[in-house]
Amino acid sequence: MRLTMLAPPGAGKGTQGEKIREVYDTPELSTGYLLRMHKNNRTPLGLKAEKYIDKGELVPDELMINMIKDQLKKPEYQKGFLLDGFPRTINQAEELDLVLEEHGPNLDVVLVLDVPKDVLVKRLTARRTCRKTGKVFNMEFNPPPPNYPHELYQREDDKMETVLYRMKIFDNRTKPLIDYYTKKGLVRFVKGTGSLDEVFGRIREVLDKIRESS
Ligand code: AP5
Repeated sequence: MRLTMLAPPGAGKGTQGEKIREVYDTPELSTGYLLRMHKNNRTPLGLKAEKYIDKGELVPDELMINMIKDQLKKPEYQKGFLLDGFPRTINQAEELDLVLEEHGPNLDVVLVLDVPKDVLVKRLTARRTCRKTGKVFNMEFNPPPPNYPHELYQREDDKMETVLYRMKIFDNRTKPLIDYYTKKGLVRFVKGTGSLDEVFGRIREVLDKIRESS
């Protein structure tokens, strides 16, 4: 299966992506995660991207498109993939179409997770990430187990002001993609509120139907 998740910051792309990967054996490709790895490892891409990520700006399309093209060439993504955080602009979506036309079938589905803004803000400001494993928790809704052994940190872009700015960027630059993919018949809306398992149950309904029909 080839799918992407199109949703605002904090909607649960990473959280649900982990479950989709486990159940459907679909390798996940998260641009946010990859960029943070580059940033932490001080690579040339990480150094270029850092100032955009920390401010909540989008990293320029050219850098993102080159990064995703390099990734999608890898053997592990040839049978299918789950994109988390890409595409985020019309330009990125058009480039993705070209890459997929060249290398195999197009996307099967674009999942749009629908979560109200006040819930997104609550989730993001309480999110903490494990410095060692990258695992994501939430101090209010999904806390780490007692005596969790590793250090948890708050992402620089999860400060309230930056969270609000990222949402504005989503509305202006990424939301138009819902229309772009609706015209291609690929969009499926999923209610993203409720427990982690409730949301995943709704995602499964969509993905199982797609798998049956393919
Ligand atoms: P990225 O890391 O992709 O950030 P994002 O899209 O803003 O998404 P988040 O990671 O904030 O949220 P999420 O939807 O994954 O939610 P999560 O599952 O963690 O990108 C970061 C930056 O990189 C961008 O700002 C940009 O600078 C750059 N970038 C990345 N891709 C780019 C691109 N294509 N082009 C240009 N720039 C790019 O959940 C959030 C919290 O809620 C967690 O604490 C979780 O535990 C909790 N939670 C999840 N589900 C539930 C639930 N059902 N109930 C209660 N709590 C829940």
